[in-house]
Order: sequence, then structure tokens, then C-alpha cells
Amino acid sequence: MPNTTQNAAPDPLLRLVQPNQFIGWLGTADYTRALVLTSDVWKTRAKGVPHNCFLLAAVDGGTAVEEIMLLRVSGAAAVPADAELQVKLDKLKSRTPAGGSGELTVEEFQFGLLQCRVLGTFYLQDGKLRLGSDVENFAQAAGLAVYRPEGAALAAIVNYISPARAAAAEEEARRLGLKGELPRFPIGTVRYSSTDRLHRGVGAERAVFHLNAVDFLARRTAVFGMTRTGKSNTVKKLVSVVKHTSDEFKLKIGQIIYDLNGEYANANQQDKGSIAEVFPADTIRYRMVPTPGFELILNNFFQQISEGHSTLRGLLEASKLPRSADLEAFLSMDFVPPNKEDCSSDYDFQRQTSLFQLKLAAYQAVLARAGYELPPEFKITFEVNPGIRNKINPAVDPANGLTASQAYEWFYLVRQIQDELITTSGASWIEPDTNVLINLLLQKNDQGGYIPGFRLLQPFKDYHAPNRSTDVCDEIYNHLAAGKIVILDLSVGDPVQRERLGKRIARHIFRNSMATFNRGQYPPHVVIYVEEAHNIIGRNEPLTEIWPTIAKEGAKARIAVVYATQEVSTIHPNILANTENIIVSHLNNHNEISELAKYYDFGDFTESMIRAQDVGFARVKTLSNPFVIPVQIDKFDPEKEKRRIVGDKVN
Ligand SMILES: Nc1ncnc2c1ncn2[C@@H]1O[C@H](COP(=O)(O)OP(=O)(O)OP(=O)(O)O)[C@@H](O)[C@H]1O
Ligand SMILES: [Mg+2]
Repeated sequence: MPNTTQNAAPDPLLRLVQPNQFIGWLGTADYTRALVLTSDVWKTRAKGVPHNCFLLAAVDGGTAVEEIMLLRVSGAAAVPADAELQVKLDKLKSRTPAGGSGELTVEEFQFGLLQCRVLGTFYLQDGKLRLGSDVENFAQAAGLAVYRPEGAALAAIVNYISPARAAAAEEEARRLGLKGELPRFPIGTVRYSSTDRLHRGVGAERAVFHLNAVDFLARRTAVFGMTRTGKSNTVKKLVSVVKHTSDEFKLKIGQIIYDLNGEYANANQQDKGSIAEVFPADTIRYRMVPTPGFELILNNFFQQISEGHSTLRGLLEASKLPRSADLEAFLSMDFVPPNKEDCSSDYDFQRQTSLFQLKLAAYQAVLARAGYELPPEFKITFEVNPGIRNKINPAVDPANGLTASQAYEWFYLVRQIQDELITTSGASWIEPDTNVLINLLLQKNDQGGYIPGFRLLQPFKDYHAPNRSTDVCDEIYNHLAAGKIVILDLSVGDPVQRERLGKRIARHIFRNSMATFNRGQYPPHVVIYVEEAHNIIGRNEPLTEIWPTIAKEGAKARIAVVYATQEVSTIHPNILANTENIIVSHLNNHNEISELAKYYDFGDFTESMIRAQDVGFARVKTLSNPFVIPVQIDKFDPEKEKRRIVGDKVN
């Protein structure tokens, strides 16, 4: 037998055949199943045949192989009852493979039968390797030589991408100005079983598994598994490899991580090192509470008026306070400035603008009264025409800016003579919304009774960031468009706010990117990673909610979502159905597994997923691959990552 495992033939089909890895003969095959005759000697030479491993069946010793069957070992098989088949198998026992020395006699061999599943057929079309997901003709199959591929041949199988998808990837690459193909992200090496002494041991050639950018970008990827089986590690590895690879290819890919446990932002004690530490120049960390080294996720309520008001609305609604008429009116208010097109005349527009400014000022006065700190140098400023101004207090012109207490006093005076403040058209100068805001400011309802008013807003002061000057969502989006890594550390702060904020940021990314798409342009590539997804993405959300929408339409907006959770069953059915890539480590529960077994050939791995508890040992289904591939995910090693080692073969 030749002693190279790598066939140097230029033919991509022949290159899959590794004579050293011969493990037996194909006894029989049909469309779905195959029986392989093997022996202990052959198996040992090929460094074992673990459960679920891939096998290839090809014409023995041929130089003009036309097709190769791809099989997966699903178990051992008993000697068949069929007498004709028994004779056939007996004949095969004494056959020596081409190039084999045949130094042993049949008597010295321990023969056995393997039950296999037929996964497909490799063949050439226009000189390119193609994988059909079935067999066309199995009549000639008996007597084919069977090999257990490793190293380069195995890598070719698990990283196979159809010519059609390859062409799409090339086109996308060209559009992005890249030379050649889109990048691939190496995330692990093929591993079949928990015991991997032989097939991944000394002398074995490991096969690196890549996630293709064309499968990953603008797609959904799920990461499932019991606690401590390596979900977060998989996410970290992905973030890191996407960052390294995209830098290398000069392709901007923005990545945003919803970090519920703070393990990406901080140096995690157990794991020593975090994403933020590995990419200090390209990582921006956000938190909901002020922390050194972190940007505040929050908005400046005095400047991002609508954002601040909608945050307050969310918090007030969640707090389930009794709804007074004034609170109800406050919740249903909006702060959309008047639009010139909607006004009957320039005069009308000016009038509405001035009334809007008054409402805004009353709102800011309420915030200030509730203890929301004014931004540095900020004063509550608005124009009031001299006639009305002089009636209220001739000594004060709000156009020069008011402090918090001046604003309170000014509105206090307004309330005293409110009925006299009539506009030229005869209407009250104080519009209903402004009236409600003055009620809240002065803690009196329309009947003069006491109301808690501004006090209702006091508990939420920490959500206001007085030093921020741009909307945090815009800022995050700009970082993503620049190819940065954004970490939203959601480990501190209120859970209700966390979910709401998570949605608001996701919605902002989606809307901005869709707007770009609708203008006929290409939005930036963004990957959203959601850790502990069951806390962020509700199973029962209506389809119109942001997460199911992104799952359905994210491709157009070039948004990829990676979500990690322990429970398959907690994921929104529409999101799961739209998930192209699935990575699963150990699951301990048949309910969860049966949920998954509905998809692709995960059913083949039921037993192994329950039994093997090895950390990072995952079964991976990608869009390009028509079948599940078992992979040991590389450990995210901050020291190695810092040295920019990409696609390291040794864990
Ligand atoms: N592929 C791997 N190779 C080696 N060690 C790993 C691998 N994946 C994870 N680990 C280690 O196993 C431990 C648990 O991993 P990780 O935190 O990723 O699990 P998890 O599934 O996210 O757990 P949880 O459900 O608690 O969030 C960590 O200490 C991590 O470093
Ligand atoms: Mg985790």
C-alpha cells in the first residue's frame, strides 16, 4: 500500500480517495442504506472507524473514478439472512485492495459488518466537485472499496460548498471588492466520538471545519447545549475568527454581542480573557449604569426627547402603577415636531412650532423637577411672544434659558393665569398635552386635587445619561458599519429594561439597514449575537415583533443573527424554522432532542448527543452542507487569539 494518505492526483474526485485509509468493501447498498464489510486489521490501520464517521465508497484502484458514494456509519450490523448476500460477502473477505500487500490470511482477520446511511454522491461536473444528496444508481455499488477519509479529503467533504453557492459567494466577493472568494471561518476540527484516542490521536490528520461566510453572513445560526458545554466559547470563537478573517480580507463586518452575563466585556475569572481584552482597539463596551471603560447605553433625556420619553413609557407601563388620567395622557403623548407640509401656512407652522417648544419645555421642566440632571451648560430654552411673556413675568425671558428651578417657577406662574392666556385665534395658549405636563410638574390635576406627578418619574433617573450628545442607537450603528465589535453588557440593570433596550437596538439596526436596502444600496454586514436568547427573544412574540422580523427579512438587510440557549424549545418557532445553521453540543433531555430531530439528520445523533458530555463537542448543520457534521469546536484562547493565530489545527 502507498504510505501517503493524501492522493496527489489533480482530479478533485480522486483526491478524496486515500488508499491508506481503506477499511473494507461495500457489501450492498440501496438508496438510503449500505452494508460495509470490514475487518479489525483494516480498521486499525485506518486508525479506527468510530460511530457516525464518514466513509467513502469508490471503485478500487481506479484512475478514472466517476463517482464516490458518501456514507455515514450508523451502527454495527448482524450477518444478513440473505444466502446470496452471504456468499457475496464471503468472496469479498479474500479480496485484497489494489496496492495492498495481502500479508495476512483470511483466517487471521476478524470480520464485521457496518450499517451505514447513504448521504450522497460526489461526482464531477464541468471539472468541479459536486455532491448530490442521494444516489442515482446503486446496482454497481457492491464491491466498491470503502475508505475512512481524514485530513485533506475529510476537510473537502465537510467544507463542501455547491458550485451554485460558490458562484453566489464569488459574486458577493466581487461586489465587496474582494479578490477571489468570500472568506471562510475556521471554528473547529472534525470529531466523531467522545473517545478520540485513535481518530484524532497521534499520527491522525485532523480536518479543519470552516463556517463559510456565504452561509454565515446575513443568516441565522443557533447554538444549543446544556450549561457549561461550550456555547459561549463557540460564540467567542466565532466573534474572534470573524474579526481576524474580516481584517485579513479587508471586509468590514460589524459584530454586536448581547452579553447577559458580562462574560465578553470583562476578563472572566474562570476563562482568563475576554473579547474586549483580545481586541481592545476594535471593541466598544456599553452598560446601562456608569462604569469606567464602558459607554453608557442610555440616552440623554433632555436631548433625545422621543427616545427618553419612550424609555419612560416602557418603564412606567412595566411598573403597573395605577393609571390616573394624567399618567394615561403622559403615556400616550408623543414628541414629534410639527411638519411644514402638514401646516396650512407659514404662519400656522410657526404657531405650531412655538406651541411644540412650549410642550417640550414643560416636559423638560418635569424631568428636571424629578431630579434628572441637566446636561452641562444646558438650559431650558424657548421663545414666547412678548404679549404673553409680559403677562406671565416681564422680568423673565425663557429665550435666554431657564434653570430647573426657574422653569418650575415660570410654569407655576403660568398656571395662575392659564385661563387668560389666549392666542389670537381665540384658543387656549396651553394645549392639552402641555396642560398635562404642567399638572405633573405642579402635582395637581385639573380639579386641583393632589397627584404624585413628577414623582412617578423619579425611580428611573438612572436611565438618563446627562453627558451624552448623540442617540446611543445611532452611535452603535456607526460602530457596526465601521466593522467594530460592540458588546452590550446587560449583566447589570433591570431585566424589563434589558429586553426593551435589546429590542430597541435591534430594531434600529434593522430599520437603518432596511432603509439602505430600500434605497437600492447595500447595507453593511452586521452579525448580532444573542446570549441566553430565551431571556431576550420571546417564544410567543407576534410575528411582527423585531426578532421574528429579523429572522425572516434579515437577509435583505444583511443582518446575521447567532443565538445561544440551553433549550431548543424556548426558541420562537418561526425563528427556528428560519435558522440555516445549527450547532448543538450535549443535550440531556429527549424532549429537546426530539425538537431538534425534526430538522435534517440530527436524528442520527440522538444517542451521541445524550451520551457525550464533552465540552465543545458539537454537531453542526450548515446551509451548504446537506448533512450534520460532528465537530470539536476550538477553544477560544485569548493568548493565542492575541497572536492572531487563525485556523489553528491543534486545540
Ligand atoms: N471547545 C472547547 N474546548 C475546551 N474547553 C472549552 C470549550 N468550550 C468551552 N470550554 C470550557 O468549558 C467551560 C464552559 O464553557 P462555556 O462557558 O462556553 O459554556 P456554556 O455552554 O456557555 O455554559 P452556560 O450555559 O453556563 O452559559 C469554560 O470554562 C470553557 O473555557
Ligand atoms: Mg454561556
